[in-house]
Amino acid sequence: MTNPAQAAQTTAGTAAGTAAQTPFMPEQQRMQASVQASVQSLWHPQTIPDPYPAYAALRDLNPSGVLSVPEWHVTFVTSHAVNSAVLRSPLARSGAAISQVPGDTQATRLLQPMMLFHNGPSHARLRGLVQAAFTPRVVEAQRELVQTVLTELLDALPTERDVDLVAGLAAPLPARVIMRMLGLRGDDEARFMRWTQSVADLLGGAQGNPELLARIEADAREMRAYFRDLADELRAHPQPGLLSAMAAAQDGRGRLSSDELLSNAVLLLAAGHETTSNLIPGGLLELARQPQAWAALVARPDHPNVADELLRVVSPVQLDGRSLSGDLTTSGADGQPLTLPVGMHVQTLLAAANRDPSVFPDPDRIDWDRPNSARHLAFAAGAHYCLGASLARLEIAEVYAALARRFPNLTVTDPTPPFKANLILRGPQELRVQLG
Ligand code: HEM
Repeated sequence: MTNPAQAAQTTAGTAAGTAAQTPFMPEQQRMQASVQASVQSLWHPQTIPDPYPAYAALRDLNPSGVLSVPEWHVTFVTSHAVNSAVLRSPLARSGAAISQVPGDTQATRLLQPMMLFHNGPSHARLRGLVQAAFTPRVVEAQRELVQTVLTELLDALPTERDVDLVAGLAAPLPARVIMRMLGLRGDDEARFMRWTQSVADLLGGAQGNPELLARIEADAREMRAYFRDLADELRAHPQPGLLSAMAAAQDGRGRLSSDELLSNAVLLLAAGHETTSNLIPGGLLELARQPQAWAALVARPDHPNVADELLRVVSPVQLDGRSLSGDLTTSGADGQPLTLPVGMHVQTLLAAANRDPSVFPDPDRIDWDRPNSARHLAFAAGAHYCLGASLARLEIAEVYAALARRFPNLTVTDPTPPFKANLILRGPQELRVQLG
């Protein structure tokens, strides 16, 4: 979720001139201009609802699956093989996003201790202490909670008229699940959802938008105060739930500090919400275009591949970023040797990799029987592989099985809904459907 493509984003509105081609440009310059124009187009508001043609255009520009923009010190990777090699390499470092958040602010203080932005032993320590509480047994024990929350929400939806499934299901479900898992009070739900939105906006690139940065700063201050008080209270009087377990977790070097505890609790809250809540409507939109896949789901609602095939086609985290601490040697998508040089910012286009036709034939098609759906990179790979992957898979499988069983005639009434202005954590703002 790091964002060294800020250069592309901030210049997207203004640099169309620099990316323009003229008939007299040398070939290499012409190629650079095409890459810049294609990358910039990704951030145009009209591209976010359907960025896949832009990814395909980038892929066509270079068969190696690697496109460098030396001016921006960024390389964009479209191929599954190179994305996977970068994400799994010990030379690939996370954390560039932190350096783009200006100054010593509440927002930087909130982000800095998150495991997402750490590397090597300090990342292993933070991740290990959180993972000690977030065990597979704890996750599997949430199935009943997920089913209960899901039933509550679905029971409350009207069937006689159309309804916004984002507000009615996709936003509250993952938020309630992760809040209850953490042991947070339900009456604070609206505030938590506003806070996670701020974290998502920050990770999605709020730079250059002073109004948004001011809101994020105010929310970061509130989040830090709330979780610090709560963490102190829970250390003194442990309660059931993940937060107390995280506060108590210990390794050879001790426990999480208060700042580490509060920041990683906020990370779980935001990562647990702003991803699954985009996948639910995103998957339904894809299925609206592929009615045969919806019919196949209705025929077999608990097909074991549903979550992974939806993660592959939707990619709720569209891109990720790494900086290289050494020369990374691998093979390009064309099989040719490839070296990505030290210091390079690599933008791993996860969504493009998940539709790489050399790995996933007929990649736009939803195929529940696809034998290798689980090779998707929607949860990234390597050291920062999504810590909540098993919870996310459980939620997605339960939601889609329930929708297919209860509402086999579900119809998306607005197949071109408005999208949030966030390419990285991409999803529709609302999705109007008729359930009955
Ligand atoms: C559809 C759902 C989800 C998707 C697509 C997703 C995707 C991702 C991705 C791509 C990363 C890597 C980020 C990076 O390398 O910069 C990540 C990391 C992470 N995710 Fe998820 N995620 C999902 C759900 C969840 C849930 C439900 C939780 C927890 C409740 C969670 C917690 C985390 C955490 C803590 C990390 C950081 C891991 C680390 O840095 O070691 N995610 N996720």
